[in-house]
Amino acid sequence: MNDFVFSYPVKTYFGAGAAAKALRAELGRYGKTVMLAYGGGSIKRNGVYDEVKALLAEAGKRVVEFSGIMPNPTYAKVQEGAALARSENVDLILAVGGGSVSDCCKIVSAQACCDEDVWEMEYTKHQLPQKFIPLGVIVTVGGTGSEQNNGAVITHEAKKLKSGVWGAIADFAVLDPAYTMSAPLRQVVSGAFDTLSHCMETYFGTPHDDNLSDEIAEAVMRATIRAARALVKDPDDLRARGELLWAAAMGENGVLKIGKVTDFQAHQIEHQLGAYTNCNHGMGLAVSHPVLYRRLCKAAPARFARFARNVWGVNDADDQAAAEAGIDALASFIREIGLPSSFSEMGITDTSCFRAVADSTNISKGCCKQLTADEIYDILMECR
Ligand code: NZQ
Ligand code: ZN
Repeated sequence: MNDFVFSYPVKTYFGAGAAAKALRAELGRYGKTVMLAYGGGSIKRNGVYDEVKALLAEAGKRVVEFSGIMPNPTYAKVQEGAALARSENVDLILAVGGGSVSDCCKIVSAQACCDEDVWEMEYTKHQLPQKFIPLGVIVTVGGTGSEQNNGAVITHEAKKLKSGVWGAIADFAVLDPAYTMSAPLRQVVSGAFDTLSHCMETYFGTPHDDNLSDEIAEAVMRATIRAARALVKDPDDLRARGELLWAAAMGENGVLKIGKVTDFQAHQIEHQLGAYTNCNHGMGLAVSHPVLYRRLCKAAPARFARFARNVWGVNDADDQAAAEAGIDALASFIREIGLPSSFSEMGITDTSCFRAVADSTNISKGCCKQLTADEIYDILMECR
């Protein structure tokens, strides 16, 4: 385990009635104007919007709505939100939705308090924003764990980049499994795979010694797999939906990353594929992980064998054989929970962007084998 400094500011309310509990406890700390931010309207159809609006009214807040945040939020949408937050003198941003709404609001929060363009500031000056409008997040579909950290993934359409941008970290987060019940199973399992991917991308990061972070990661991975399987059998299993929400939070609250350099090579590939195709995040990861890992496992057979044994219950005594059996188990789990195994199953049939995707993908420093752009291109082509 490497040296580390760890601190953790997000107050998380989990369980039935968590939104009422959280908003009644937290809203008094902020000024009068709340920006209620959400996506394409699922919260209006499942009743969450009405519940939240009633709680805001009860607290005497003036509500400014910022809606239409799309999956894979764009930088233009961030700028729209920031302009609105500024002109309305917003005191608190309340993001209600999945990772896309949460991510968009993290950067709205930063951009509204910053005269410079946040993207340019972070990528050309290598400076991070220092001032933020306070943020609370109510999660309606799990997977990303976005509500637990200050990283956002934003699509800059003009630059053809889908990249990490650093913004606000939420003061509080609400995880009520009932709020996720209306989320379609396909999105739920996509989110579950995203969580599994976050755990794997941390677990396969360096170092590969015996450490507590990786032992916790194994437990989170097993819990995620168990809950995803339960939901495929019964999508109304509230307990399993709750397990997935908490597993997602654990994947991205920093605990698993303690003492590690993370990998996130599969994410880097998926993000750039998303910049060119606007594909679903968890599904893009599901397709690429087994293909990527078949290439990486020869570089770290002992670690892949441990993953196979401790997460998938593989018994093979030989490390290389166990490593490969673990990747087979991962691939068959992907099919079992109804996720795609090829880009064409996701509707991506035009491969003409793959060269540009490969050439613009960041190469991870924590990956157990440094890839080249040509290898990434080969992986993309193998995934088609
Ligand atoms: O927009 P609405 O109408 O709300 O519909 C959404 C959206 O269409 C729907 N949905 C959400 N909750 C629902 C629901 N539908 C019915 N009932 C509910 N309760 O689900 C669809 C997908 O939502 P989205 O927020 O896009 O999904 P997800 O949470 O998977 O977020 C994906 C985004 O997060 C980024 C991804 O790259 C992608 O842009 N990520 C963010 C991370 C972070 N900040 O830590 C980490 C991840 O690795 C990831 O990259
Ligand atoms: Zn992810």
